[in-house]
Amino acid sequence: MSANEKKLAGEAAIRFVEDNAIVGVGTGSTVAFFIDALADLKDRIQGAVSSSEQSTAHLKRLGIPVLDLNSTGALSLYVDGADECDPHKRLIKGGGAALTREKIIAAASDKFVCIIDSGKRVNLLGKFPLPIEVIPMARSLVGREIAKRGGSPVWRDGVVTDNGNWIIDVHGWQIADPVGLEKDLNQIPGIVTVGLFAQRAADVVLVGDKQI
Ligand code: A5P
Repeated sequence: MSANEKKLAGEAAIRFVEDNAIVGVGTGSTVAFFIDALADLKDRIQGAVSSSEQSTAHLKRLGIPVLDLNSTGALSLYVDGADECDPHKRLIKGGGAALTREKIIAAASDKFVCIIDSGKRVNLLGKFPLPIEVIPMARSLVGREIAKRGGSPVWRDGVVTDNGNWIIDVHGWQIADPVGLEKDLNQIPGIVTVGLFAQRAADVVLVGDKQI
């Protein structure tokens, strides 16, 4: 059911792709269905900006040009999955460790279409451990700062991001104020990116092929 909803969502997002567009492309198993569907339109778009080495490889394998965000200007559309989505379209992302480039592309895009299956919908963010990308030497410092705020930091041992950094997953937070927490965590030295997409939430959420 869940895999089928991911496929439906990935394919439904195609309707937001305009002719001649440069499309921002996220990372994950749901986005993989979007990339597969995007390949059918490859002659009608200029190409894609990718959020990960994984998505880049997938896009190139299907013959979709991968462009550098520094040469494209603002993008009209970004399509990506999420690990959790609340009723205000605020998200937890980073389960696939690609959160930093995902957040950059989301910020560079006019419209963020988030594609999920129904299991990702929550009333309160935080049951899914919050991923945070950190500079390696700051791992312990960041962990202590998180503990002061009541979270339980767990180092995702063995995972190195595409940017050469590490991931801490924070367990035990019920995130009543996602914007406030995102701003607060962004002040801690050594944190590269917080996997809360609250200040820049999604604009459109597709749960399977249903828009909410
Ligand atoms: C990647 O770092 C994440 O932000 C993904 O967007 C998220 O984990 C969703 O992944 P799935 O589509 O595989 O569930």
